[in-house]
Amino acid sequence: MRKDLIAGNWKMHTTHLEALQMVQKLSYRLDPGDYERVDVLVCPPFTGLRSVQTVIETDNLQIQLGAQHCHFEEKGAFTGEVSPQMLSKMSVSYVIAGHSERRQIFGETDEMVNSKVKAILAEGMTPILCCGETEAEREAEQTEERVGSQVRLGLQGLTAEQVASMVIAYEPIWAIGTGKTASADDAGDMCTFVRNTVAEQFGEAADSVRILYGGSVKPGNIAGLMAKRDIDGALVGGASLDPDSFASLVRYWI
Ligand code: PGA
Repeated sequence: MRKDLIAGNWKMHTTHLEALQMVQKLSYRLDPGDYERVDVLVCPPFTGLRSVQTVIETDNLQIQLGAQHCHFEEKGAFTGEVSPQMLSKMSVSYVIAGHSERRQIFGETDEMVNSKVKAILAEGMTPILCCGETEAEREAEQTEERVGSQVRLGLQGLTAEQVASMVIAYEPIWAIGTGKTASADDAGDMCTFVRNTVAEQFGEAADSVRILYGGSVKPGNIAGLMAKRDIDGALVGGASLDPDSFASLVRYWI
């Protein structure tokens, strides 16, 4: 019922020319049948969006386009920011909200993330709401408290219908870019916890919301993660920068 989603977060990597080449190389490695089974998403930096959008349209690719960040206001005096409307007009269909790097390095709060989620939905795009605990929180056994509150605050004020259309990514911060991944069992349990948290507030919408795991996902560990009932895909950083490894993540069952 929930279609798998494999999303590449390219972070601050690739010039617009490299981004274009990357998406072309990825498309050569995928077959039409792959897209029936999995939604394939790439999130280049802002400067790469236009070139990737053009190649997707010109070559009629089924790869979807996402952005890594946006502001929550429609327009205004916000130097350096990009609005949801600017992204939706560029055929962007997903926007990551509240990635731990945005929270930790750029000071995004749960309140800002919630405003962003609403603004993304208002523009007809799908938010990918990120949550996850630090290593210290995990050691102090505060994982569920932390992740539960990020999910509740991130979804505050939304309708069940909106929540059902969304994506939530559980990404333990200690596993991001470190090569340390959560075990498939731990990741699966946390994604079940996220779904239960959604169910407490939004009932059946929890059956439809897609939940991704992120944090050092690689071709060697994805199959075990995807076998978990409540993991509907992956949000991938490092391994999405190599078209061969990204293609094998998309085709995780092979
Ligand atoms: P990683 O990044 O795959 O390089 O750990 C994941 C993410 O930050 O979304």
